[in-house]
Amino acid sequence: MTNISFQRHRRLRETTAMRSIVRETHLQKEDLIYPLFILEGENKKNPVASMPGVFQITLDLLNQEIEEIVSLGIKSIILFGVPEDKDEVGSGAYCDEGIVQKATRQIKSLYPELIVIADTCLCEFTNHGHCGIVEDGRILNDPTLELLAATAVSQARAGADIIAPSNMMDGFVIAIRMALDENGFGHIPIMSYAVKYASAYYGPFRDAANSTPKFGDRKSYQMDPANRTEAMREAESDILEGADFLIVKPALSYLDIIRDVKNNFNAPVVAYNVSGEYSMIKAAAQNGWIDEKSVVLETLTSMKRAGVDLIITYHAKDVAGWLNK
Ligand code: PBG
Ligand code: ZN
Repeated sequence: MTNISFQRHRRLRETTAMRSIVRETHLQKEDLIYPLFILEGENKKNPVASMPGVFQITLDLLNQEIEEIVSLGIKSIILFGVPEDKDEVGSGAYCDEGIVQKATRQIKSLYPELIVIADTCLCEFTNHGHCGIVEDGRILNDPTLELLAATAVSQARAGADIIAPSNMMDGFVIAIRMALDENGFGHIPIMSYAVKYASAYYGPFRDAANSTPKFGDRKSYQMDPANRTEAMREAESDILEGADFLIVKPALSYLDIIRDVKNNFNAPVVAYNVSGEYSMIKAAAQNGWIDEKSVVLETLTSMKRAGVDLIITYHAKDVAGWLNK
């Protein structure tokens, strides 16, 4: 024996079994929320070029897709609409016959247990591609709130289990909460995109949702990626307005923000593992530069370690499949 003394950290890493009993973070199927892009029309399953493995899908082909999601053990999905027609005020978002409303009714009638989250925004439905009403090149806050509230009520009427407002107008949570309550949907939770940055990582999503702004950018409503304390102000106002879940978006470049939100608020925290994060992994994997499964599991585990309870991710089906093995 020597008399030098030091910590033997490696004792707990010796075997697979030993490592498994000291593991601090676990990824489970319940953590996963799978995004779907519902396309108006018939018999179409369009691959999204910038997001390998992701499709826009029409209602007649949807049941098969949902069947697969449910049988993999995924508990929740989030719906985005890709409508045929768009207008200045995004009417398709709050029409009872809108594509998201139709999809919600169809899914809930066949799979009542599956949690359907409706993304509540206008950008997929406006001809200018902005998330709110536009006047003289500015995005108006309060007039947009009324349309968002109408969208949320219409989505709840179609059977949505959770309303997820994503447009970053001030006061959107209270406006939606009041409208839901007044219309008999007091039991429907709000999953707020509380902390959403103006990120370049959204590029591939805008191909998938056909929602690229026709002029300017979203920097007057989404947050500056450089800001940290502002994230706490955003999260705080959403909690005060009645948000039930807080989303941080994107995830990977914002793990510090996720930890701040987790430490400062008691609501469930959700990471949006966004399109650009997905596509970077897919591209590298397709080139044989990284091992996809290991990198995806490590990436999602890092989000959970940072403090999230749930992860919205395009990798959800793959991950559920791996976890099932
Ligand atoms: C906008 C919205 C965005 C995403 C979902 N809804 C961002 C944007 O276009 O500004 C991005 C999701 C992703 O990148 O995966 N309401
Ligand atoms: Zn939007």
